Amino acid sequence: MIMLSENKKNELIEQARNASQKAYAPYSGFKIGAALLTKDGKVFQGCNVENASYSMTICAERNAAFQAIAGGSHEFAAIAIYADSDKAFPPCGACRQVLAEFAQDMLVFIVNQTSTHETTLSQLLPERFSL
Ligand code: THU
Repeated sequence: MIMLSENKKNELIEQARNASQKAYAPYSGFKIGAALLTKDGKVFQGCNVENASYSMTICAERNAAFQAIAGGSHEFAAIAIYADSDKAFPPCGACRQVLAEFAQDMLVFIVNQTSTHETTLSQLLPERFSL
């Protein structure tokens, strides 16, 4: 698993914060942004996009993961998730499974207005489903 300097980590968090400002969340009111660093050094952003048909909503993390795949980068190194809230937003189970498809392991920074929690995907999802 890669090590990230404090600078790189803070840059990634800043990009996640920027992404959260683009969220479309008129129903929940929770604006989430993600910035995903791939092993080839690119950063892909995603935000949550809600829908009047609630279950069509996509989370910020999966949005970022799919941007990376569409951008041609299949190996994930780290993700920062920023919730513009005082509530912590650890990635949901579906997002953990999707991230695990493209990472042996990766750093996960869970950030909100007041705190930063640093963990790894293998801690969040010890046994992914795989075929
Ligand atoms: N949400 C995310 O963006 N990421 C998660 O891991 C959990 C939930 C979004 C979906 C929805 O727009 C809002 O947060 C409330 O569930």
